[in-house]
Amino acid sequence: MIIAPSLLAANFGRLAAETVRIDRAGADWLHLDIMDGHFVPNISFGPQVARTIRPFSKLFFDTHLMCSRPEILLKPFAEAGVDQMNIHVELGDQVTPLIWKIKSLGKKVGLAINPPTGIGMVKPYLDQIDSLLIMTVNPGFGGQEFIHETLPKIQQACAWRLEKKLGYRIGVDGGINFNTAAECARVGADTFISGTGLFSQRSLRSAIAKMRKIASAAGQKCG
Ligand code: DX5
Ligand code: ZN
Repeated sequence: MIIAPSLLAANFGRLAAETVRIDRAGADWLHLDIMDGHFVPNISFGPQVARTIRPFSKLFFDTHLMCSRPEILLKPFAEAGVDQMNIHVELGDQVTPLIWKIKSLGKKVGLAINPPTGIGMVKPYLDQIDSLLIMTVNPGFGGQEFIHETLPKIQQACAWRLEKKLGYRIGVDGGINFNTAAECARVGADTFISGTGLFSQRSLRSAIAKMRKIASAAGQKCG
């Protein structure tokens, strides 16, 4: 089980110190939410911030590009030292060239899917990706409520993984707290992106450990 705190919920006034705090709190990955004000109605931060915080942690940097034109950002993020880049399946024809571009930069590939998009859309790409990121809220903002209707998509992704003997991770992102992490783990999720759910707790370290424990206990090979 991978627990990936989202930097979006950290204190933006001290991102380097927050990176160190997340690292020392026992996180597995650090999730970086990149919003362009076009694909989603919000703007977060870009490659320069990733580059600035990179020296403060050896954690796996998981970048989530909620961007209409990720092609212009792939090289800058690769050079900033991130480990994985997630692009959205909603980009249609651009998905295949984007996957190849990420691979050519030597980075791991993630494919993200929004709540209204049918899970069938990701099927053609499953043998080309390292990670599938199932959005459990409509992207753009932290602190939103988990959308339960996304649970069958997790289950389907898990069934396909077994059937096709593939090894992609199944991530969930949005509204993940101790309860919803357990619900997702029960149907096959193994990677938990969480902002508010973790940062609202008094101790980040115990929150991460607790979420990992709950997810492991609820986890299934397939729900
Ligand atoms: C949503 C982002 C998420 C977000 C999760 O647009 O992709 O990664 O940071 O935040 P919470 O856990 O607060 O819903
Ligand atoms: Zn995200």
